Amino acid sequence: MTIAESPDSAVPDRKKVRAFARSLFGIYTHGALAYMIDLGHRLGLFTAAAHGPATSPELATRAGLDERYVREWLGAMVTAEIMTYDRDAAAYTLPPEHAAALTGPGSKNMGPMAAMVTLLGRNLEGVEEAFRTGGGVPYDAFAPHFTGVMDELNRRPLDELLVEAWLPLAPGLTERLAAGARVADVGCGTGHALAVLGAAFPASTFVGYDLSSEAIGLARAEVADAGLANVSFEVADVSALAPQRPFDVVFAIDAVHDQAAPAEVLRGVHDALTPGGTFVMIDMAASSELSENVGNPFAPWIYSISTLHCMTVSLASGGAGLGAAWGEGLARRMLGEAGFGEVTAHPAPGQGLNLIYVTGRPE
Ligand SMILES: C[S@@+](CC[C@H](N)C(=O)[O-])C[C@H]1O[C@@H](n2cnc3c(N)ncnc32)[C@H](O)[C@@H]1O
Repeated sequence: MTIAESPDSAVPDRKKVRAFARSLFGIYTHGALAYMIDLGHRLGLFTAAAHGPATSPELATRAGLDERYVREWLGAMVTAEIMTYDRDAAAYTLPPEHAAALTGPGSKNMGPMAAMVTLLGRNLEGVEEAFRTGGGVPYDAFAPHFTGVMDELNRRPLDELLVEAWLPLAPGLTERLAAGARVADVGCGTGHALAVLGAAFPASTFVGYDLSSEAIGLARAEVADAGLANVSFEVADVSALAPQRPFDVVFAIDAVHDQAAPAEVLRGVHDALTPGGTFVMIDMAASSELSENVGNPFAPWIYSISTLHCMTVSLASGGAGLGAAWGEGLARRMLGEAGFGEVTAHPAPGQGLNLIYVTGRPE
């Protein structure tokens, strides 16, 4: 039966069509607004607005920007109900509740996340082509922007949550790090997790691996600035981790699902651990079964970033293309196949998008 013959498509309910069209326009509007939020974050407009009500010229002066652009941006912010407008005073206000989610040095500031939308749009044509031909858009095509976006996204949660809220999920891990352990971070990006751990646990030694020489350069600069002699970084492909480098603890933070060879990476981590060693894998919170992701408010985001980045970078090098929504079931199965022991999966405190898997190499 062709689509034209389908009884379901014959008489669409006009009310439902109108409702869906409205919702579709809302999606496009929010897509455009994500760029406006990205601009507001990059240009310091939210921070300037958080200082109190301002007219457009006042806000432009506060932020050091061109008034005409600022006024148009404010139009979008007011009509999107991100800011309010007092016509008599010609004053714009960022309500304190909105400032809490868009400004400040903490992990509650969601401003940096808008840059991910901008980043994903950069390679749309490449992904479009890959839909037709297979393959994908390689990591290099996302550089150098990807490195900076990931760094800004993860830096604040790592500062606030890694030591205080995430490590305690692995029994005995904090004590082990305090006593002195050999630790690796696979797919470490700009290495901020190890900078945080290196400062908190001076008796331990840390090495971070990443394919990106640009990210590793930034990682080295950060730990050199901080004077952390117990943290080092290497440009390396973690699908070929050398088992002769034994580690007591390995972290993989948001770095397994986009691997070209995730099974090899997991096996390599297992083999590089000492018996009794701990593996902490932080990855997207999703089910491996699509129908179980329906109703998960984060799921459309996860599938979208996967199509536009995580899956395509893996497929670009002939990889597995697991995708960001590979999910807990498949993750558990692959960890088991790599030889790991019992796995516990915890919703990541303060990070609704992530699960923290804790497992280890059996004694
Ligand atoms: C999504 S980013 C996460 C980076 C970092 N862990 C963070 O949380 O910000 C994934 C990282 O894995 C790295 N990567 C991907 N495949 C790799 C491989 N085979 N070997 C080493 N690094 C790899 C990428 O270069 C990228 O920096």
